[in-house]
Amino acid sequence: MNRRRFAHWLAVYAATSRWHTAQLLRAAEPEKGLAESFEPASVDDFQALAKAKLSPMAYDYITTGSTDQVTLRENVAAFRRLQILPPILAGVAAVDTSTTVLKQRVTMPILIAPVAAQRLYHPEGAKATARAAAALGTIQGVSSSSSNSVEEIAAASTGPKWLQLYPPRDRGVAERLVRRAEKAGYTAIVVTVDLGERKDADRRNRFALPEAMLRKHLLDCGFSIWAEMSYAELIRFNQQAWDTALSWEFFRWLRDRTRLPLLVKGVLRVADAEKAVAIGLDGIVVSNHGGRRLDGMPASITCLPAIAAAVGGKTEILLDSGVRRGTDVLKALALGAKAVLVGRPYAWALGADGERGVHTVMTLLHEEFTAAMHACGCAKVSDISRDLIILPK
Ligand code: FNR
Ligand code: LAC
Repeated sequence: MNRRRFAHWLAVYAATSRWHTAQLLRAAEPEKGLAESFEPASVDDFQALAKAKLSPMAYDYITTGSTDQVTLRENVAAFRRLQILPPILAGVAAVDTSTTVLKQRVTMPILIAPVAAQRLYHPEGAKATARAAAALGTIQGVSSSSSNSVEEIAAASTGPKWLQLYPPRDRGVAERLVRRAEKAGYTAIVVTVDLGERKDADRRNRFALPEAMLRKHLLDCGFSIWAEMSYAELIRFNQQAWDTALSWEFFRWLRDRTRLPLLVKGVLRVADAEKAVAIGLDGIVVSNHGGRRLDGMPASITCLPAIAAAVGGKTEILLDSGVRRGTDVLKALALGAKAVLVGRPYAWALGADGERGVHTVMTLLHEEFTAAMHACGCAKVSDISRDLIILPK
């Protein structure tokens, strides 16, 4: 391209991206509504909308990862390095994306990951997410820190829900919470075990749950706190309430107390996946917590093939961290996952446009996944095979 043409294209590009930004900003004004002014077409569009709409504290809380954010970036980059080699002329007319996860029928192998503090970025929080997940026919992972009680979220929709547990130090509190989840109809317990959160942006922003939200969170979990406790006392209480010295023993304790299927979230090593199988866990989530824990860990998709080779067929393998496109879902399934979970994609969409945003962003992922299956000649999810993927050299 000669210099004049290059300059011309540069001007067109700059004007287009200015227009794009203006559209995004306009769309983020709540009184104008989203649909009239801008039609988000991807997860990235919802990220931009969330950025324009949310406070920097809320947006950074959702978006950033630990310290240098190497793992955060690697999660997305590792998916992009994988290539898909589709067979042609497979004669597939219709694609069925439905599957089962822990015997639960879902319309797509894309589940809602447990995400904390959802009322911080939308007033309806995890209740809006619950309604969208139910309408979509997928499973909602409900964080024990989601900022609504397990009962409130259960009452918001009849869709299938799993409780994600951060175990309280006080085992009595843990047991009562599990009982309440059983009673409210939750169908599995996911225990998150990865440690090492250290997010610079949250420190700079002095990120903290507002007092009322923190108080409600502790009460929702079933802790005994007193009405007179000050904000500072609540913060101190919260800091020591959770078990950060957890070992495999916790799962034995939990297995004796509930018949619900149990999953461990945060598995990256083959030996840990094997241990989970050995103690009879129903599922594992291969996850680095979306790069929000120890920085420097590999992308979870990088760890998946070896884990699938070791324990595939012996337990349900799920994966999260870095899924941003339907092709990422296809890649994860080809490499051995039964389903994926997404965190930020729907958290941004919830912040941008509430229940409708969550519904839209999950629908976009579903459509992209459907197109990817069709392009690969897969009529059903079980047709997605390992040989579709070229691993990077
Ligand atoms: C999370 N995640 C999370 N995980 C968990 O087990 N309990 C929790 O309370 C939270 N909270 C939370 C808040 C926010 C804002 C985010 C973005 C994530 C991690 C989540 O379940 C999942 O592992 C990652 O989000 C997956 O990575 P992606 O999809 O965000 O790249
Ligand atoms: C987070 C915690 C709450 O990732 O899991 O923010």
